[in-house]
Amino acid sequence: MQKTFVTHPLPSTAGPETRALDAGLVIDPATGAIAPNISMSVNNTLIPGDGAFSADGVEDLAALPYLYARWTNPTVRQLEQRLAALEGAEDALASATGMDAIAGMLLTLLKAGDHLVVSDVCYAGAVELTQRVLPDFGIEVTPVNMARLDQVEAAIRPNTRLLHCESPVNPILRIVDLEALTTLAHRHGALISVDSTFATPVATRPLRLGIDLVIHSLTKFINGHGDALGGAVIGRRELVAKIRGRAGVYLGAALSAQSAWLIMRGIDTLYPRMRMASETAMAVARFLETHSAVERVLYPGLPSHPQHSLAKRQMEIFGGMIGFRTPGSKAIAERLADRLRVVHYAFSLGHQRSLVVLLDTDEMMASTYRLTGDQLADYRAYAGDGLFRLSIGLETPADIIADLDQALAP
Ligand SMILES: Cc1ncc(COP(=O)(O)O)c(C=O)c1O
Repeated sequence: MQKTFVTHPLPSTAGPETRALDAGLVIDPATGAIAPNISMSVNNTLIPGDGAFSADGVEDLAALPYLYARWTNPTVRQLEQRLAALEGAEDALASATGMDAIAGMLLTLLKAGDHLVVSDVCYAGAVELTQRVLPDFGIEVTPVNMARLDQVEAAIRPNTRLLHCESPVNPILRIVDLEALTTLAHRHGALISVDSTFATPVATRPLRLGIDLVIHSLTKFINGHGDALGGAVIGRRELVAKIRGRAGVYLGAALSAQSAWLIMRGIDTLYPRMRMASETAMAVARFLETHSAVERVLYPGLPSHPQHSLAKRQMEIFGGMIGFRTPGSKAIAERLADRLRVVHYAFSLGHQRSLVVLLDTDEMMASTYRLTGDQLADYRAYAGDGLFRLSIGLETPADIIADLDQALAP
């Protein structure tokens, strides 16, 4: 008789590292294969009368039987279950990119006449989408420095449906108090989402602090290898189902099974990678603080970070992202691009190889943030005229330090 291999559930006491590896893992019932299979099938065999088209509609989109891969697929679903386990959530929706996760969430939760309070500084694409595209659909948007709770409270209106923040904030590494923001949002009957891409679940577990939805660009630390795009919205089942029903089905930016498989393979080593990146980042940040070419270093783990005590309270580890400033940053950028041998001068972050790029403040203001007054002053307090965003990889720490040292030399 043909043997069927069974997937045993994890013990309920399983720790975060074990859950990161094995939550949602399905042993192939036919072959017993342990590593996830890539299911490339666009559709799955229908069993008439099996409830696929029940009156509950969207509630069933992620459940067996799988119907059509735009809604989810067996490989993508395994990834979704692992992401939910990583964040301690009921459910997750994986999408083609991080940007799509943000867009899908916003276009599901907001409609014409609603109001969004968004962090005045966050991932550039999110800033441009919220401030330039959403108003075209009749959605009101107020950008606020989310580290200033009084200003957040003042921005909230009777029609505010959602607060969207990041912590740490890309690119300036400002930390926001997720628990306090959640209390504020909920007191006014609004939902709150956080883009936790810089932190990852290894550093911060926002749902434990009351946050309703966590966003990740899986393209960054969670995949960690710079070879797949992906995004996720993670939270309560009913909220995720609503976003899947609208964004997953109608916006159509489904994650490919191949990318889901690569991202799961990345998650296998998320904990050790993040711990190493965080330890190395601390050593590099300390080194940069002593370097004569550097005028300011921003790393949540440094006592000199403006919100170090909040970071200690909210983060288990301080992560792999560093910001630093130098006088004459444009000339230094050219020097780094020319001289670096270990670190790569390139956009993106959270990969196994260290990456650095200059984000010139005037250019960022012209292209994206368009801040004025206090908000611009708050930005400049972190970024000055320009911030080098350094994403720490898995190289030998001394090699990263020596490479930066030789490249920064006059
Ligand atoms: C914090 C943050 N959120 C979202 C995104 C968008 O992710 P993706 O490039 O996967 O669309 C990025 C990309 O850099 C990011 O840094």
